[in-house]
Amino acid sequence: MNKAIVLTGITTTGTPHLGNYVGAIRPAIDASKNANVSPFYFLADYHALIKCQEPERVRQSSLEIAATWLALGLDTSNAVFYRQSDVPEIMELTWMLTCVTAKGLMNRAHAYKAAVAENEEGVDDGMDSGGRATHGAVAGNDPDKGIAMGLFSYPILMAADILMFNANKVPVGKDQIQHIEMARDIAGRFNHIYGEHFVLPEAVVDENGATLAGLDGRKMSKSYNNTIPLFEPEKKLRKLINKIKTNSLEPGEPKETEGCTLFSIYQAFATPAEVDDIRRRYAEGIAWGEMKQVLFEHINEQITPARERYDALMQAPEHIEEQLQEGARKARAVSAPFLKELRKAVGIAPITKA
Ligand code: TRP
Repeated sequence: MNKAIVLTGITTTGTPHLGNYVGAIRPAIDASKNANVSPFYFLADYHALIKCQEPERVRQSSLEIAATWLALGLDTSNAVFYRQSDVPEIMELTWMLTCVTAKGLMNRAHAYKAAVAENEEGVDDGMDSGGRATHGAVAGNDPDKGIAMGLFSYPILMAADILMFNANKVPVGKDQIQHIEMARDIAGRFNHIYGEHFVLPEAVVDENGATLAGLDGRKMSKSYNNTIPLFEPEKKLRKLINKIKTNSLEPGEPKETEGCTLFSIYQAFATPAEVDDIRRRYAEGIAWGEMKQVLFEHINEQITPARERYDALMQAPEHIEEQLQEGARKARAVSAPFLKELRKAVGIAPITKA
């Protein structure tokens, strides 16, 4: 039986936080130990350029993300762990796919549409001085203002990431489902024109996969600036946990677990029995200060061994680089021959045909 190819990418723009860990990293690392799947995990550094033009941040983020995954015990004997930019075939495939992708398909991408909508909201009343509808196209009120081609066509780069390895399953957050559908569309179009080369990928969305709440109770996300970095030193971790927003109920007053940020984070790190115990303590009126202490100790205990490995890896980046190079070698063993086949399929080949 052929093993299912499971592929996912991590954009290298930030520092991994507890939300990333619970939602994406932990399940991916578990899957890396499953001998029935063939995982491809990569640092999506060319994707980072879409939203981040700070070179140092892109570099540092690549380092932190790679160190995080390795420290958490990614099984690199089973998983292929690489950096997108080390596999140049992906960029070449991107162009082939760009040439079969309908512009109209890209017009419908949520990320692009949201950026346009934001431009159109602005000060525009939708009319020119004569009261005619402008559809946002007034001088100084360009609907495409500030939108780079990278943002517009990034679903094609993502399709290339996936199709390059003929991935069957792509674990992603809900916000990315549309991109997987676009990758299927693009693959179908290419196959229709040039013959069956690509497998149509499927999105895998973990429905009960926790989206973790952040410091302010909203979804933990870099864009809300409410994250708890995964490998923060102990003292800082405690400080951040103490900052988590609660209501003003006094010690001894019974508390709701539903909608409580502290509880929801605890739940993501605890066994069902531990969760039941905490539920009981909420009903008995546990003080918020005490719950914060419980939460800190619980998380800290779980991540301390990995944090130690992380700190050691960050001190020895050459080991990380070595692992990534080994990953790139394994990835290119697949992508190079496949790209050769694709080039031939589209007519990019030596004129002196064998
Ligand atoms: N765009 C994805 C995100 O923002 C990251 C990503 C890039 C990705 N290429 C991918 C995910 C390919 C899955 C497959 O989360």
